[in-house]
Amino acid sequence: MRSEGSESRIEGDEGMQVADRLLRTPPYPFAELARLKRKTIEQGTDLIDFGIGDPDQPTPEHVVEALRQAAGDPVTHRYDETGRGLPEFLAAFSAWYRGRFGVALDPEREVLRLIGAKEGLAHLAWTVLNPGDVALAPDPGYPVYKVAAMFAGAQVHFMPLREETGYLPDLEAIPAEVADRARLMYLCYPQMPTGAVAEGDFYRRLVEFAREKDLLVCLDMAYSELSYDGYRTQSLLQVEGAKETAIEIHSVSKTYNMTGWRLGLAVGDAEALDALEKLKSNLDSGAFLAIQRAGAAALSGPQDCVERMRRIYQRRRDLLVDGLAEVGWRIPKPKATCYVWARAPAGYTSAGLAETLVRDAGVLVTPGSAYGEMGEGYIRFSLTVQGERQEERIREAVARIREKVRLK
Ligand SMILES: Cc1ncc(COP(=O)(O)O)c(C=O)c1O
Repeated sequence: MRSEGSESRIEGDEGMQVADRLLRTPPYPFAELARLKRKTIEQGTDLIDFGIGDPDQPTPEHVVEALRQAAGDPVTHRYDETGRGLPEFLAAFSAWYRGRFGVALDPEREVLRLIGAKEGLAHLAWTVLNPGDVALAPDPGYPVYKVAAMFAGAQVHFMPLREETGYLPDLEAIPAEVADRARLMYLCYPQMPTGAVAEGDFYRRLVEFAREKDLLVCLDMAYSELSYDGYRTQSLLQVEGAKETAIEIHSVSKTYNMTGWRLGLAVGDAEALDALEKLKSNLDSGAFLAIQRAGAAALSGPQDCVERMRRIYQRRRDLLVDGLAEVGWRIPKPKATCYVWARAPAGYTSAGLAETLVRDAGVLVTPGSAYGEMGEGYIRFSLTVQGERQEERIREAVARIREKVRLK
């Protein structure tokens, strides 16, 4: 078996058919990045890794302890037959959400646990889209939106996000015939990969647009808690009427350094959540109950770990952006996310710059083009620097870029 564009091969299985939808799917960008990273390290390069956005700090100890306790309770060892999710976890999220955004959620109807945000974002497409429908997705954006919509047989219309307009989509620019066929719009704020944020007025216009066009908005808020300089992300559900036309996807992954645990939430429009629950109950069997108990401990326990993490990323952001400014590469400081989105100096494509950085400076970044056509001309630094002594490594990366990479 061989899937186009990928390295994967199952020996002795040459004759097996791979479905067309998979053949049309490009390799997951981070799988490619992992391959490039392995190869570079094998060649003996001391790689400074700003590639994947995967927190390098441990999960807070009280959350790990909650898992230890919960895993010792045999009740958690069985199937998760709760439907929407463990009531204790859903209640903890609702309470957290109310405290954070001032919005009340009914934990029985308006909250659904996910096996990570990615799972929910992907499965949502199957619950909303019929073949031939249109899904609207941001460009640049998380590649999962496109692939999920494509798997559901829908056409994807990309909404370009431009630096000049704060990386917000121009809803008026969506052609009427496209908007009329659109059933689902994916958006993400704080935005990955650009680090842009959205404010109330845009959200009000978005809800109006969604109601007028009768489409579901899915706002990916995986980075809601990573914000800097005192900025705090707003929620879409704060807008009146949003709960009838929108859901938000949340995650404990980046907030509590829990990417490997696989736990997220969908909140908002109860009908959309009913549909997603129905699909999920046919495809998966919920999430490990012990992990949901630990998730509840994360949400209802002390939040100083989140503040600490914000300080860590903010310091790294400043070291990187200020350091690169000193060597003549000016990059705006993001208010949120763990990414720095940098325009490539003149003469470089995204891929060309990423390759130069890895080859000449041993600095791994993601080419912006991995996130869509509009990402061409940019690269993404993740502030989740893998390894140890991250601040030293960031200084070292800046020094190597100054010495080894032509920036003008
Ligand atoms: C924009 C965006 N959404 C969702 C996710 C996935 O989050 P989770 O770990 O909860 O599946 C990521 C992961 O990097 C992401 O960048």
